[in-house]
Amino acid sequence: MDALKLLTTRSSMPRLVEPSPSEEQLELIRKAAIRVPDHMNLSPYRFIEFSGRDRGLLGDIYQQAARLNNFSEQRIEQAGQLPFRAPLIIASCLRYVDNDKVPRNEQLACVACATMAMQQACFAQDLGAIWRTGWLAEDDYVREQLGCHEDDEIVGFLYIGTPAVPTPIKPEQDYSEFFVAATNVISD
Ligand SMILES: Cc1cc2nc3c(=O)[nH]c(=O)nc-3n(C[C@H](O)[C@H](O)[C@H](O)COP(=O)(O)O)c2cc1C
Repeated sequence: MDALKLLTTRSSMPRLVEPSPSEEQLELIRKAAIRVPDHMNLSPYRFIEFSGRDRGLLGDIYQQAARLNNFSEQRIEQAGQLPFRAPLIIASCLRYVDNDKVPRNEQLACVACATMAMQQACFAQDLGAIWRTGWLAEDDYVREQLGCHEDDEIVGFLYIGTPAVPTPIKPEQDYSEFFVAATNVISD
C-alpha cells in the first residue's frame, strides 16, 4: 500500500477473525513498533503477544481482575471471553526508564507511537486492528500480571486479525479547524 494512502485512510477494525497474521506479517508489525521516534533511544516499551491458546492466559487474568473488583458473575464470565475477540492481541506496555533528559510522558508518547505504528503495519498488510484500553488497562492486578512495575503502564491492547468484512474506511474529516497559522495565535 502507498504510504500516503495508509496515512490518510487508516481505520480501525473491531470485527476480527482468523487467520492470524502470518509470521512474515508479524515480523513487519514488530519492526514497525520499534521504528518509532524514541528520545535518547531508551526503548521504553515491551510488547506481550497473546495468540491461539495463550489468549486464555489473558482471559484468566481478566476474569480474576473482574473477581477482585467484585463484578457480577456475568461480567466475570464476559471478561474471560474478551481476548477471544481477535486471533492475536499485543499488549503494549510502557517500561519506564529513569532518565534525566527524557520524562515519563515522552516515553509514554513513544509507546503510543509504537502502538499506532503496529496498527498501521496491520492496515498496510490488509489485516485489521483496533487499539483498546478500558478498565483492564488500568487495573492493578492486570498490570501486575503483565509484569508492570510501578512507573510502567499498559498503553493499550492491540487486537489484530483478518477483517471479518473489508475494513470500513472512515470519511475524511475537515482538518481546517485544527490547524491555524501562527499569526492567528501569537500577537506581535
Ligand atoms: C488510547 C486509546 C484507547 C482506546 N480504547 C478503546 C477501547 O477500549 N474500546 C474501543 O472500542 N475503542 C477504543 N479506542 C478507539 C479505537 O481504537 C478507534 O480509534 C476508534 O474506534 C475510532 O476508529 P478509527 O481508529 O478508525 O478512527 C481507543 C483509542 C485510543 C487511542
